[in-house]
Amino acid sequence: MMNHQIKTFEEYKTAYQESVENPEGFWADIAESFTWRKKWDKVLEWNFEEPNIKWFQGGKLNITENCLDRHLKTRGNKLALIWEPNDPKERFVRYTYKELHEKVCQFANVLKNNGAKKGDRICIYMPMIPELAIAVLACARIGAIHSVVFAGFSASAMADRINDAQCSMVLTSDGLNRGAKQIPVKRVVDEALATCDSVQKVIVVERLGWAVNMVEGRDVWYHDEVQQVGKDCPAEEMDAEDMLFILYTSGSTGKPKGVVHTCGGYMVYAQYTFRNVFQYEESDIYWCTADIGWVTGHTYLLYGPLLSGATTVMFEGVPNYPDMGRFWQIVDKFGVSIFYTAPTAIRSLMGGDIDDVLSYSLDSLKVLGSVGEPINEEAWHWYHIHVGKERCPLVDTWWQTETGGIMISTLAGITPMKPSHAGLPLPGVQPILVDNEGNEIKENGVEGYLCMKFPWPGMIRTTYGDPERCRLSYFSTYKGLYFSGDGAKRDENGLYRIIGRVDDVINVSGHRFGTAEIEEAINHNEHVIESAVVGYPHDVKGQGIYAFVICKDVPENQEMLRAEIIETVVEKIGKIARPDKIQIVSGLPKTRSGKIMRRILRKVAEGDTSNLGDTSTLLDPAVVDEIKEGAL
Ligand code: WT7
Repeated sequence: MMNHQIKTFEEYKTAYQESVENPEGFWADIAESFTWRKKWDKVLEWNFEEPNIKWFQGGKLNITENCLDRHLKTRGNKLALIWEPNDPKERFVRYTYKELHEKVCQFANVLKNNGAKKGDRICIYMPMIPELAIAVLACARIGAIHSVVFAGFSASAMADRINDAQCSMVLTSDGLNRGAKQIPVKRVVDEALATCDSVQKVIVVERLGWAVNMVEGRDVWYHDEVQQVGKDCPAEEMDAEDMLFILYTSGSTGKPKGVVHTCGGYMVYAQYTFRNVFQYEESDIYWCTADIGWVTGHTYLLYGPLLSGATTVMFEGVPNYPDMGRFWQIVDKFGVSIFYTAPTAIRSLMGGDIDDVLSYSLDSLKVLGSVGEPINEEAWHWYHIHVGKERCPLVDTWWQTETGGIMISTLAGITPMKPSHAGLPLPGVQPILVDNEGNEIKENGVEGYLCMKFPWPGMIRTTYGDPERCRLSYFSTYKGLYFSGDGAKRDENGLYRIIGRVDDVINVSGHRFGTAEIEEAINHNEHVIESAVVGYPHDVKGQGIYAFVICKDVPENQEMLRAEIIETVVEKIGKIARPDKIQIVSGLPKTRSGKIMRRILRKVAEGDTSNLGDTSTLLDPAVVDEIKEGAL
């Protein structure tokens, strides 16, 4: 098992068994292959009650030394990053490991010159340009904790995240390209910062060359700052359990939570899972289409590939610009061999002309991946047949922001692959299914709530500033277990099929939103008294957002009202959380204790009102008929 890469199903079984019998030995052996300034004192300390999880305690390292410095001798001139712009006519950018190392050191020096230091939280609100990747690594280099906020979030959503983490700095750009559109990013930052007192400095990268408002003493241009720094920047020494980053994600309450990952365990887990799931080889050209604003971009665009010395492709644009063949054109252009994307992208491209795929050779492809939501069989086969030409294994990777890396997935070409099934757990991952009472369901051919009974190095450590929230969200539902929030099936052969969320979280195009979060946004609209949001099956997005809204005075023109409500959501969260359907209602189905019966609303949203179940406990059963009749 060279480089801890599993090459046969037999090796998988051996590794899995070892990882369960002796998890500490298993992970310590893998961790040995990294560069540590000082080795750890203790591999693991844990309990799932508080929770308290510590991997490789006392170990000293810097993740960027592992991503960059240690490759310089053997891979200095190998390509680390290939960046493809939004507009195919614009020139792409390539950095070797040596060049990327230099860029990261320069950016790190700019951060230091502007007052950043170890432990500071830095918000990165940037489009998919090379400087985003560089900025993230620069933070890690100086020991600052990065909190990347997806550049599609609104000013208000950004401000909430900045305030929660008390960020001292924001890294951003003048604007961004997205398909045919250009968006003024810096203006959104300015709006957010009107309510953020913690931010001392804003560093702005030029992308569009737009004239932007620069606040004296606060805002500086990156291209000016970089003139004043050197190309060397020694990496800050970090403890394995020091924070590496915070990434906000939605839960079942209104307020997003800051998931905390630490340096050592995350590093080991990101690299191990990357190599094994995708069966990465030295000559591969690897492309993950996710934005760095999401965890997939963190672990599998940036850290996992760079830790492995891979060439990683980063794309600024969108799948349908300038046409529906854009992804495949890029695959051919760079000879991409491993391609990792989301079901929603596949489904949207399926809707196009088949020649948009068939006119590209796609010969370089070896492995395909899927992530973010269940991939339906139709999309699975389309992807496997038309993109992978039935010769590329397709890995359906299940994981979460909280897990740091892939947990359940086929290892490409090694372990069993079954359409719409994530497959077997990775070595070191101990999933169990439990019933309503939290009892383990041991047999195969069953369904239950997906939990983990043992820690893994990449797992969440806490929720920033609020450890109790971490306990309540993940460790209190079922005693002694990590609860994922997902329901899953396990087939006769032990392969897992993820069904989806069982909590009040909806997954729209692979992005998570709490129903409470969207309701809170809707309720900000002055016409709205109350609202209830549920997910419903959507052909492209996986789930769509269906909002039932009670308004003060309903005007003749309901369309105007709906448009206003959508505008409020866009303002509070961002375009990605726009409700697809808004039904104005006079009441909501509530129990006598005032609890909304979402089961009924879900049925209505799904268009299945034939059997709404028992409605006798409702305060006002008549409201159900009205809702049924007005369904959209
Ligand atoms: C939720 C996590 C992990 C990176 C992207 C999303 C759903 C994720 C799959 C999959 C079925 C999946 C789950 C999970 N999910 N991957 N392969 N099959 N469902 O990260 O925003 O933290 O969302 O996405 O419901 O709980 P996230």
